[in-house]
Amino acid sequence: MRRKIVAGNWKMNTTVAEGVQLAKELVEGLAEVPADVNLIIAPPFTHLAPVAEIISGSAIALSAQNCADEPKGAFTGEVSAAMLAGIGCTYTILGHSERRQYYGETSEKLVKKIRLALENGLSPIFCVGEKLEERNAGRHFEVVGAQVADVLFQLSELEASKVVIAYEPVWAIGTGVTATSAQAEEIHAFIRGIIAGQFGEEFAERVSILYGGSCKPSNAKELFACPDIDGGLIGGAALKAADFLAIAKSY
Ligand code: PGA
Repeated sequence: MRRKIVAGNWKMNTTVAEGVQLAKELVEGLAEVPADVNLIIAPPFTHLAPVAEIISGSAIALSAQNCADEPKGAFTGEVSAAMLAGIGCTYTILGHSERRQYYGETSEKLVKKIRLALENGLSPIFCVGEKLEERNAGRHFEVVGAQVADVLFQLSELEASKVVIAYEPVWAIGTGVTATSAQAEEIHAFIRGIIAGQFGEEFAERVSILYGGSCKPSNAKELFACPDIDGGLIGGAALKAADFLAIAKSY
């Protein structure tokens, strides 16, 4: 059985006070969420410690949105995987398209980040996804296949077994345009297929592959019903407790 996951990526939104309030509302609403759905929230770095306190003892897990590609030292402005683990994170998002696009995140860096995350007990939520022009050119399988191979297939089987994948077509992120469930399922099945080719069928069956990109209460149910979609990475709709909980409940 694969883990069902609904993860909220808050990006660079909310003040600490607003984030703490949002976390409180999520804890209060948690009883309505099916027990087999793992809820994860990824607030900004500044919010992690106070939010960790709010969700401690609840079933909500804490994630960062990124971590450094070096373990420690003279890297001004960076936050290490060890620091994140030390304040209660158990996950970190890595390779989000916004980081690839605006902050020069390469596959090489991502392999380093994933290893550091794993060494510190964090499960990476590793993001892949094609741009609009790549989809329009019919290159989405090629692009996503290369993103998976360049990072996941550089890891050992044991390392890779702790990675959660998030497929997020760049054209669907923050645009209100969602991939249809057929488009999403097609590429999720493709990702699982190449993982099976690398690490075996049994291994691939256990990997959770999340969908992200304008996922909201109105479309989550249909997306999550697809056989190879194991949950969602939610951006905009994760900023309202009612919407995020509704998405989790729809599973
Ligand atoms: P969105 O973002 O739900 O606002 O489209 C998803 C993401 O970037 O993780």
